[in-house]
Amino acid sequence: MVKLGFIGAGVVGTALAVRLQEKGYPVVAVASRSKKSAKKLADAVVGCRACDSNQEVVDAVDIVFVTTPDDEVQGVAEELSWSTGKSVIHCSGVDSLDILEKAKAGGAQVGGFHPLQTFASVTHAINNLPGSTFAVEAEGTLSDTLKSMAQSLEGEFVVLGLGDKALYHAAAVVACNYTVTLMKMATDMWKTFGVSTEDATKALLPLLRGTINNIENVGLPDCLTGPIARGDIGTVLKHLDAMEEKAPEIVSTYREMGLQTIPIALNKGKIDLARAEELRLLLKKSETNAYVEVL
Ligand SMILES: NC(=O)c1ccc[n+]([C@@H]2O[C@H](COP(=O)([O-])OP(=O)(O)OC[C@H]3O[C@@H](n4cnc5c(N)ncnc54)[C@H](OP(=O)(O)O)[C@@H]3O)[C@@H](O)[C@H]2O)c1
Repeated sequence: MVKLGFIGAGVVGTALAVRLQEKGYPVVAVASRSKKSAKKLADAVVGCRACDSNQEVVDAVDIVFVTTPDDEVQGVAEELSWSTGKSVIHCSGVDSLDILEKAKAGGAQVGGFHPLQTFASVTHAINNLPGSTFAVEAEGTLSDTLKSMAQSLEGEFVVLGLGDKALYHAAAVVACNYTVTLMKMATDMWKTFGVSTEDATKALLPLLRGTINNIENVGLPDCLTGPIARGDIGTVLKHLDAMEEKAPEIVSTYREMGLQTIPIALNKGKIDLARAEELRLLLKKSETNAYVEVL
C-alpha cells in the first residue's frame, strides 16, 4: 500500500490523516510550521511520526498532502525536491493544479483532493469528513488513487478539469456560507419583534432542517414551498412593505432571492408565465422605486 504523509497539521490535514489511516492507508510522516502541531497529529494516528522538516516527509512517503492554508501551498511545494514516483496533492477548493507546476517539473505526479465539507474544528472535521463529496483533479493512476480514497471515506467524487475550480468553489460558498448569511438575516428580522439571535436560531432551525429534508427527499424544483411557489403576490407585497419599514437593509437581498426563486416556481408548475411576470415586475418595481428614492 502506498505510504501517505502530510505537510500542514491543521483541521483538514488531521481529519484526512485520521480517517485515511482508519481505512487502511498507512500515514507515516507529518511536518507542520510548528513541531507542536505535527506532534499532535502524529499522536492521533498510529504509526505516524512528526518530522523536523517538510522535505523529511517527502523523502519518507509516496503521496504527500500539502494541507497548509491555500496561500502557502505553492511556496511550500516549490521549496521541496521531488522525484519520479512521488505524488503531491493539495486540498484547496479554488486553486487548480497549476500551483504544483514546479513539483510536476521535478518529476512528481500532481493532484487536487478537495473535501466539499465545512470544518469548524478538528473534531468537527473528523466527524464530518466521511460521506463527503471530494473534488478530484489528477492525471492517470493518481486520479484512480484519489477516487478510491474518496470511496474509502464513504464519499462520492466529482472529477474537475482545468478552469472548473472557481465556479465549483463559488457554488460551495453559495450553498454553505450564504446559508449562514441567510440565517443571520432571518434572526435579525426576529429581533424587530424582540427575540434574541440565540432564541431565533433555535426556533428557525427545525424549519431549516425540514427544508434540507425536502431538498434531499423531494428534490428541486418540487421542494420549493412558500408564496412564490404558490404565486401569492399579496403576501410578497406585505413582506416588502414590512421590510421597507422595519428591516430596510434586507430588502434588496429579499428581492434578488425572490427573482431567483421565480424560475424554480415555474419549473414546479404551480404558477403560469403571467403570474411569474407579475411577481417579477413586483420584485423589480420595488427595486426601481428604491433607486428613484435614493436619487
Ligand atoms: N477548513 C475547511 O473547512 C476546509 C474545507 C475544505 C478544504 N480546505 C482546504 O484544506 C487546506 C487546509 O486548510 P485548513 O482549514 O486545514 O487550515 P488550518 O487549520 O489553518 O491548517 C493549516 C496548517 O498548515 C500549517 N502551515 C502553515 N504554513 C505552513 C508551512 N509553510 N509549512 C508547513 N505547515 C504550514 C499550519 O501549521 P501550524 O499549526 O504548525 O502553525 C496549520 O496547522 C486548505 O487548502 C483549505 O482550502 C479547508
